[in-house]
Amino acid sequence: VRLCQAGLETLIGSRSEERAVGKARELAAELRGAGLNPTLAGVPNHVLVEKADLIFLSVRFPHVIDSARSLPFKAGSRVVDTSVPVIFEAGAARFVEDGEGSVSERLCAALPKGVRVVAAFKTIPARILGDLDSGLDCDVFVCGDDEATKQAVMRVAGLIPGLRPLDAGPLSEARTIERMAALAVKLNLRYKVKAARFRAVGV
Ligand SMILES: NC(=O)c1ccc[n+]([C@@H]2O[C@H](COP(=O)([O-])OP(=O)(O)OC[C@H]3O[C@@H](n4cnc5c(N)ncnc54)[C@H](OP(=O)(O)O)[C@@H]3O)[C@@H](O)[C@H]2O)c1
Repeated sequence: VRLCQAGLETLIGSRSEERAVGKARELAAELRGAGLNPTLAGVPNHVLVEKADLIFLSVRFPHVIDSARSLPFKAGSRVVDTSVPVIFEAGAARFVEDGEGSVSERLCAALPKGVRVVAAFKTIPARILGDLDSGLDCDVFVCGDDEATKQAVMRVAGLIPGLRPLDAGPLSEARTIERMAALAVKLNLRYKVKAARFRAVGV
């Protein structure tokens, strides 16, 4: 929705083509209702990975790495990993520790050599991203080891009204950002809100 709002040609992927097409139609109608003219289509995940210039991986944790491995990523593919390693148990959120580092680093290690992984959008609640009436008014922390891809993701994030992209450094910073996202989830639960997010002051 926000990529369309920014005027970008957008594909929605799913394991099911029917779900992808249905969701794209539903969102396109919603966007037209808001006075926008989106270029939006739904395709199976493997088609999206072959076609898209920038691929936002937004798969339910903990299926992220297995599902990415099953898709036709190749050297040069540019992937934005949005994953947060949190699972919900009995109304509580639990951060899932892994000695091998952040999800983004493990994803990068699991994908073919030459795939460029950037971590971003981890600390922004889906609920407000999906609601054009909600002002975002926050920062998006972007980190990655390929400088050109990181800058490309920052340019795209900067096109979205109300978002300020911040260069958070190398991909290893995803360890901190994933923890910040987990904190936001816990704040939401504790304060019974749905849109806790971050703004760095003094930057
Ligand atoms: N929700 C948030 O506020 C938020 C904020 C920041 C980051 N994130 C991150 O964004 C990602 C998506 O979160 P979400 O809340 O959108 O999750 P979600 O709605 O539970 O799932 C997103 C999609 O994952 C796919 N999926 C589900 N089970 C799968 C499986 N076993 N194998 C492969 N794909 C599967 C489904 O797509 P199909 O069935 O159509 O294939 C589903 O629509 C997560 O990594 C999460 O940590 C979420």
